Amino acid sequence: MNSNNIIIAIDGYSSSGKSTMAKQLAMNIGYRYIDSGAMYRAVTLYGMRHGLVTTDGEVDVPKLISSLPDIHIDFHLEGDRQFTMLNGENVENEIRTLGVSNCVSPVAAIPEVRHALVKMQREMGERKGIVMDGRDIGTVVFPNAEMKVFCDASAERRAERRYKELTDKGEKVSYEDVLANVIKRDHIDETRDESPLRCADDAVRLDNSKMTIDEQNRWLIDLFNKITNR
Ligand code: CDP
Repeated sequence: MNSNNIIIAIDGYSSSGKSTMAKQLAMNIGYRYIDSGAMYRAVTLYGMRHGLVTTDGEVDVPKLISSLPDIHIDFHLEGDRQFTMLNGENVENEIRTLGVSNCVSPVAAIPEVRHALVKMQREMGERKGIVMDGRDIGTVVFPNAEMKVFCDASAERRAERRYKELTDKGEKVSYEDVLANVIKRDHIDETRDESPLRCADDAVRLDNSKMTIDEQNRWLIDLFNKITNR
């Protein structure tokens, strides 16, 4: 298989380490990396700022849907760092807060929001050479992706990682709140009607509960080499 020309879909549960490994793989092999979760987070932030999403995740669905044409999302690259841009503004830090995490899954369950973002994601993958991570990349966005991975780890392990990430950034959160958010998002993501989170039949499963970041990066590049016969 031509290794310059494939689509790599990495799906999995929240905070399962998929973004870290997807980003690293993209850098190693010279592919473009797209964080589809950042796009759902950016729509959520837009809704929160415009009073269409309350802090406890109540959504004014018709108004949010009619605002979709006003929401432009892009990624800005600076060296090896990538920033999510919402209507030209760098919102990378703001979209990662627990406040946005608490509201994103109800927003991501709205079919019209999903259709709009899936369309953008498919356009981004038109020329292939892309690593995209999310919840439905291997099942809905790119069902024909040449390489599919599905990541999981225990909820406690995932919450520990996310808690560390947030507190390292200076956000004041409790481990219990982070764990509750992880469990709640898993539930909403798995039970929504529109493209629920599930492992594609042809995805390779990875439980990385006991793996270090280096180990999971190595595992992923080995899989890529195997699939592309490098
Ligand atoms: O990084 P983390 O695992 O916390 O989540 P994320 O990848 O940033 O995604 C945030 C939320 O967006 C998820 O909990 C899902 O509700 C939603 N999402 C989705 O529905 N479909 C995707 N392809 C990506 C994210």
